[in-house]
Amino acid sequence: MPHAAATSRPAAPDLAASDPAAPDHVAGPGTAVPLFLDCDTGIDDALAIAWLAADPRVELVGVGAVSGNVAAATGARNTLDLLALLGRADVPVHLGAHDPLDRPFSGGAPHVHGADGTGGVALPRAATSVSGTSAARALADAAREHAGQLHVLAVGPLTDVALALELEPELPRLVRHLTVMGGAALAPGNATAVAEANIHSDPLAAARVLQAGFEATLVGLDVTMHQRFEEEDRQALLAAPGPAARLLGRVLEHYFAFYAQRFGRPCSVLHDPLAAGVATGDVALALAPRVPVVVDTTDGPGRGQTIADLRGMYHGFPDRFPGGVRVALQVDDDFGPVLLERLLAL
Ligand code: BDR
Ligand code: CA
Repeated sequence: MPHAAATSRPAAPDLAASDPAAPDHVAGPGTAVPLFLDCDTGIDDALAIAWLAADPRVELVGVGAVSGNVAAATGARNTLDLLALLGRADVPVHLGAHDPLDRPFSGGAPHVHGADGTGGVALPRAATSVSGTSAARALADAAREHAGQLHVLAVGPLTDVALALELEPELPRLVRHLTVMGGAALAPGNATAVAEANIHSDPLAAARVLQAGFEATLVGLDVTMHQRFEEEDRQALLAAPGPAARLLGRVLEHYFAFYAQRFGRPCSVLHDPLAAGVATGDVALALAPRVPVVVDTTDGPGRGQTIADLRGMYHGFPDRFPGGVRVALQVDDDFGPVLLERLLAL
């Protein structure tokens, strides 16, 4: 493929706070945006996969599976099975990193996603298997192949993206936009008091990625915790005509039970699908300043915290940090109904 175009990246869109809802990611009519997804499937990852797989404006060039909610191999199996169920067995799935950069994999989050990542619901086993190319290699290759055009959506720990960065130091200039589900700027954490789970799973990878100079948007707990599916939404999925929608309704039961402990009623927040909606341009960010973000990589109580410098909020977030990361602080719309409508049509 024409690697010569690698450094002639199109002018970056202005994602400044003065225009926080800039529709950077919306594909034009008749065009499909190349997108590489890295995930740790995972119940809400499954919703994000369904969101993307059903979008004709998205050319899903590959999916990497990294350890996070479950081990990478389990997440890859879930991803293969889901894609087949969604009629997208054509999308290559790449095995990602099993261990975070600086320590062994901790075992995931069975209390949130089930030991199998799908809430104990067996997915129909697809005939497909993982590609022979690692997730990091596949991401680096896709960035060269779609130089200046590729969107990357990471909804798991950032290990694979950090490894791709090692393989391809030009990655931040080759990738058009990186959207990350991760972090918490003002909100409390969910893995610890201050750290969000994806970043907490591999803070060193997150630190490297967020300081690498990507045009990046962090879709963290400040916004994802406010977007929910309620029990009536799950019941609608269970009654849907399509088998994929019905299966998602069953898988969500485990997730709903986990969040019932937080909210006092069965429901779920929509972390990964919201990030997918931001990446596809369907979710407008009402407030998303571009600011410096530092990740705490120490072994202290702040490990995994995303320390976003939000001092600019006192005077309207002037765009003073061109090297910063766009941090989603506010979404005005209710994404649940939009997501449900798409899932019901699967
Ligand atoms: C994130 O952590 C995982 O459990 C979810 O899939 C999501 O990506 C939320 O903190
Ligand atoms: Ca995830």
